[in-house]
Amino acid sequence: MRPSLTRMELLLDISEVGVVGCGLMGSGIAEISAKSGFSVVVREVDDEFLEAGRSRIKRSMDRAVEKEKLTAEERDSAWDKLTFTTDIADMAKCDIVIEAIVEELDAKHALFGALDELCGERTIFASNTSSLAITDMAAATSRADRFVGLHFFNPVPVMKLVEVVKTIATSQDTFERAFAFVQALGKAPIAAKDNSGFVVNLLLVPYLLDAIRQLDRGVASIADIDTAMVLGCGHPMGPFALCDFVGIDTLYKISEIMYSEYREERYAPPPLLRRLVSMGRFGRKTGQGFYDWSGDKPVPLPM
Ligand code: CAA
Ligand code: NAD
Repeated sequence: MRPSLTRMELLLDISEVGVVGCGLMGSGIAEISAKSGFSVVVREVDDEFLEAGRSRIKRSMDRAVEKEKLTAEERDSAWDKLTFTTDIADMAKCDIVIEAIVEELDAKHALFGALDELCGERTIFASNTSSLAITDMAAATSRADRFVGLHFFNPVPVMKLVEVVKTIATSQDTFERAFAFVQALGKAPIAAKDNSGFVVNLLLVPYLLDAIRQLDRGVASIADIDTAMVLGCGHPMGPFALCDFVGIDTLYKISEIMYSEYREERYAPPPLLRRLVSMGRFGRKTGQGFYDWSGDKPVPLPM
């Protein structure tokens, strides 16, 4: 069923947005929420991560001004909507809290347990998880009916899609409020069921993992496989550039979670992926993954 809330009703209903985790995804979610007129509280684990997240948002907004997608006044007014904190108690006043922390069920359980004690009755909880079941997080709170998945895509300011995930316990009212919220962010929501990987990752993750297996089989080089998918299929980036873009650590966790859910080989993490994790080569965010990202152009690394 299509949601019936108008943007104005939604803005009256949700004004304060909480974003927990200000890494690749949380920073993008906070940025677009502030640009859409919501007040946003962003929480990180410590001052160092908070500062890194704050700088990422600032850089992204400045780039938008340089590219004339945003005026300097719009940037300043969006920036003023953002508050940064390391104190979870600052989430208490939020109408919706979007979680974008590490892809680990225990960490997400601990977070939502704490939020459940703090937040008001009507506050919606949303997880940006790539592969965990929303139900598993919702079941550990007293508000499974007010719990949804909001799966944004990387880079958040650019990618239009958001998968809005309704579990068997999510109320229709919550789903509609969350769906309208996504529309108020200027994104294109689709409804998805609570199966691990929802729609996109169910198809995308096996493709990325298969590219790693084919590399290991010696089919072609990293650069040639990427060129093949860009020039042969019109993809905006090849699979290895995309693995580095998503984050090798995150992709590894997603793969483990999906494999343990479905027990199908296509979701199993290839050994080479685990080797990269062991070496701390988490992709673009750490400077090395399948590529070295430290120079002007990415350079494929020997595998
Ligand atoms: N933040 C804001 N804007 C950004 C950006 C960022 N991080 N990165 C790029 N952009 C903007 C640029 O400003 C530029 O805008 P204009 O065209 O208006 O000037 C536009 O995006 C294109 O950027 P570039 O010209 O610099 O580079 P590009 O053409 O190579 O595009 C890209 C970059 C948008 C990332 C493109 O390569 C792309 O779409 N890649 C695929 C991304 C993808 O598949 N994402 C999904 C990942 S899977 C996932 O998210 C789910 C999960 O659970 C793992
Ligand atoms: P990331 O590693 O870039 O950022 C995670 C951030 O969460 C880190 O800065 C970390 O310090 C912080 N954090 C950890 N525990 C926290 C806590 N209790 N409170 C506050 N902050 C905490 O990861 P990411 O790529 O932004 O992924 C975040 C979530 O989004 C994951 O669930 C991931 O699966 C999902 N996701 C990722 C992508 C992607 O392409 N990377 C796309 C869609 C969804």
